Amino acid sequence: MNAIQAHIEATAALLRGVERLVVLTGAGISKESGLATFREPLTGIWARYDPVKLGTRRSFQRDPKLVWDFLAFLHAGIAGAEPNPGHYAIAELEALIPEVVVITQNIDNLHQKAGSTDVIELHGSFGRNKCFADCRGNPTYVSDEEALPGADGAPPRCPHCGAYIRPDVVLFEETLPPGLLGRAKWVSRASDVMLVVGTSGIVQPAASLPYWAVRAGAKLIDVNPGMDEIGPAADVFIQAPAGEALPLLVEMLRHEEM
Ligand code: APR
Repeated sequence: MNAIQAHIEATAALLRGVERLVVLTGAGISKESGLATFREPLTGIWARYDPVKLGTRRSFQRDPKLVWDFLAFLHAGIAGAEPNPGHYAIAELEALIPEVVVITQNIDNLHQKAGSTDVIELHGSFGRNKCFADCRGNPTYVSDEEALPGADGAPPRCPHCGAYIRPDVVLFEETLPPGLLGRAKWVSRASDVMLVVGTSGIVQPAASLPYWAVRAGAKLIDVNPGMDEIGPAADVFIQAPAGEALPLLVEMLRHEEM
């Protein structure tokens, strides 16, 4: 048996009889769906585009059209993607463990497409647009039908206050939707096991959730073919792609079920 198989077996042993599992995911879980991660050398989005110019609240205020067009480019790249075996394996865990909550940093909606039913989208989703000023409360969603067309390719405008419209995704320098972060912390602290998949574990506050879980007594598993900030603190580190490791884990758990 190789090391990866042994680590998957150890993970299955940790999950046996568990009531509450939290799965924290990052861009790596969608890599095998053909989507780029953010920080991998050469191919990562921030290895190719400047986050300061294109990914912050101030960059949108400085040049709304540039950032609107960049986000539309990212959205177009995501639109055709389908869940991969890693997403489906996480959705299947709901049939094997009583309570499974997915906390994702991703904005691609692939966990929901794969069948996961309780997904906390910490960084929002491309599936919705909102008023930049959140003029009627955070968030003030605006449908395409309600939005006022922008002049000369500029982003559309809010019909209530005239501010620009933007995707409901969290930009750098912005706080997360308060309710979401509170629930993410709560379920992390209440979990028996946290399974972390496909994140570099760098961006806060998501990167602190594994530590909240461990401090409250949870076991920690990390799945990543590369090195990340979470691995050294994990009880089990499965150094493999999610699309390979997670179906093997589910098969092992199903086999034990029978
Ligand atoms: N399976 C699992 N993990 C993988 C795979 C794979 N097939 N391929 C790559 N990875 C790992 C990489 O090794 C890397 O550690 O996925 C991780 C992706 O890390 P990042 O690119 O930093 O993405 P993420 O951690 O999700 O970034 C967090 O930063 O820019 C913001 O809002 C953005 O949500 C994003 C946040």
